[in-house]
Amino acid sequence: MRPFLIAPSILSADFARLGDDVKAVLDAGADVVHFDVMDNHYVPNLTIGPMVCQALRDYGITADIDVHLMVKPVDRIIPDFAKAGASIITFHPEATEHLDRSLQLIKESGCKAGLVFNPGTPLHYLDHVMDKLDVILLMSVNPGFGGQSFIPSTLDKLKQVREKIDASGFDIRLEVDGGVKVDNIAEIAAAGADMFVAGSAIFNQPDYKTVVDEMRTELAK
Ligand code: DX5
Ligand code: ZN
Repeated sequence: MRPFLIAPSILSADFARLGDDVKAVLDAGADVVHFDVMDNHYVPNLTIGPMVCQALRDYGITADIDVHLMVKPVDRIIPDFAKAGASIITFHPEATEHLDRSLQLIKESGCKAGLVFNPGTPLHYLDHVMDKLDVILLMSVNPGFGGQSFIPSTLDKLKQVREKIDASGFDIRLEVDGGVKVDNIAEIAAAGADMFVAGSAIFNQPDYKTVVDEMRTELAK
């Protein structure tokens, strides 16, 4: 498996001073910026769009930005995020009429592409598109809000997806999002994840470096 990636979810960052907060978490050793886009339609919350992604780039953020689209429809907003500096764009398969087309659109826009599975979303959406995926993201909470508890059945689902990825021979990251903390990250990694989104666990602590270091220590076990 490739090196583990820690991706703080900026949903729990301080939006009044977002650029500084994102810089601080990257300086603390985080790898990737997880950028949650919610539309008050596909999910019951409203967050940030391409303008904020562009603003982070203009502010000097050079780390990969992992745009998690919780919007419906998805196609319209993909080129805008690509232009605004997104590195990875993931979306939920139920949110598009044409799964393959949406994945192709992301690739043609120059970004890495991924599919996101809610806790109750079946994995059959993977069946014919593995060759187009750079990331598979399993939600371990129902999407919409930070600070929820990890749903334990995600561990079995992670194991299933890890087997599918390994059997496919493709180079696909297995990302997990929701309720990831220092005390469960090792178990989540053991189930097959190699990219970890954590929002409240990092941003709700005064010292980001301590949390990121503790996560890495757990991951090294
Ligand atoms: C939930 C978002 C997550 C969320 C994670 O819909 O996709 O990225 O912010 O937050 P925590 O780590 O607090 O569960
Ligand atoms: Zn997310």
